[in-house]
Amino acid sequence: YDYNEKYRPAYHFSPQYGWMNDPNGMVYYNGEYHLFFQSNPYGSRWANMHWGHAISSNLVKWEYKPTSLAPDSIGSIFSGSAVVDKNNTAGFGKDAIVAIYTSAGALQTQSLAYSLDKGRTFTKYEHNPVLSDPKIADFRDPKVFWHQKTNQWIMSLATSQTITFYGSKNLKQWNKLSEFGEGIGNHDGVWECPDLFPLKYNGQLKWVLLVSINPGGPNGGSATQYFIGDFDGKSFNPDMTIPYPVWLDYGRDNYAGVTWNNIPDADGRRLFIGWMNNWDYANFVPTLNFRSAMTLPRELKLANNGKHVVLANYPVHELESLRSETVLLENISTDKEFVIEKLLNVNNGAYELEMEVDVLESEEFVLELQNKSKEHLDFIFDLKNETLNVDRSKSGIVDINEKFASVVSKAPLTKKDKYKIRLFIDSASSELFIDEGAVTQTNIMFPGEPYNSLLIKNKGKVLKINNIKIHKLK
Ligand code: FRU
Repeated sequence: YDYNEKYRPAYHFSPQYGWMNDPNGMVYYNGEYHLFFQSNPYGSRWANMHWGHAISSNLVKWEYKPTSLAPDSIGSIFSGSAVVDKNNTAGFGKDAIVAIYTSAGALQTQSLAYSLDKGRTFTKYEHNPVLSDPKIADFRDPKVFWHQKTNQWIMSLATSQTITFYGSKNLKQWNKLSEFGEGIGNHDGVWECPDLFPLKYNGQLKWVLLVSINPGGPNGGSATQYFIGDFDGKSFNPDMTIPYPVWLDYGRDNYAGVTWNNIPDADGRRLFIGWMNNWDYANFVPTLNFRSAMTLPRELKLANNGKHVVLANYPVHELESLRSETVLLENISTDKEFVIEKLLNVNNGAYELEMEVDVLESEEFVLELQNKSKEHLDFIFDLKNETLNVDRSKSGIVDINEKFASVVSKAPLTKKDKYKIRLFIDSASSELFIDEGAVTQTNIMFPGEPYNSLLIKNKGKVLKINNIKIHKLK
């Protein structure tokens, strides 16, 4: 394996060898975070879907494990989830880790596999599949959790352009509870990878439903929309004060993300990871021995963006342990342009920028990362039009296919006096978080060399930046 291959990320999860797409089966058990993923162990384009596997004790450092699930006579192994069966409801054994995944053959059906050795090896259930419906071609990506109140397992399943909820006492027999999605949200593509989970907001319990869609994303290709509402153990009722569709991330490259099951109550966090790519061009990104990386692990919270409730997503605090050296610049005021010629003395392309901006009377300001070859990646805070645009058209290799560079990603940005900005750069990715993740833009890019200078441009009257911190990341 060539870990030094160009565009191999420094601090994002990427497969050791071969192709990777969706994160799968994320579950926490016995001090370990499991990450399974859609994997082609034989090549670096989408084919032969298996579940690859990695384990971490801290969400920062991952250890590769052998492939967990391989194709069989009823199909290849598509996306799905995993649960810890504490009460042995399925009869595979107490505390079995049970994977619920899609068998993709002539039909898409749902299957089970279980592990009695802390996720190291899996045995497929002998009577697979456990759920099928020959009338629906796109019938996949089961996400299962235990619903205490109604004392049953709930499965969210993508069924063409709706999400269907099923209930079960034993993970083996499933009955349909309800269907959600007609006439609401975006329907320009097929619905995939649902996830339903509770989150507290102002002391109240709310339910969030993630739905990935391809195509139909706000900036083209694949993206993840969400709904906020209530769930009573049978059906999901969306809160209609939210201007649907709304998106988890307005960048081009955060897809098929779902959350970890079984995070201990004492921790109480809802942890998420997404696939940092887009079906518009995923098979053609310029790497050789591996393809794709995951987003940073993020914590999800409900927040207010100044206009309505949003699903904020923000890097987990564990990632602060990656900081190896910090440069601090204070009190920068500019009415036109300000340049930081050298962000880091030795820059290998892995760093984080943090800053607080007082907008004062600026109408638009731009953060432009540049390298010596004059490639640049632009973050445009258009305060007049209340949009945050990311322009990667001159960011490096962009002729991957016609869809890669053509679109400037736009996100809604409520006009405020101050913004708190965090930007994570790795060898082939940028993740921008405004105000603790109330606005997020994740976009990949392929510069010839790391960006090591920052040009800040301002339109309008003075802009003040209190504190720029540049953290080099291990
Ligand atoms: C989403 C997806 C899923 C499917 C998997 C196949 O990216 O299309 O719906 O299970 O990828 O690899």
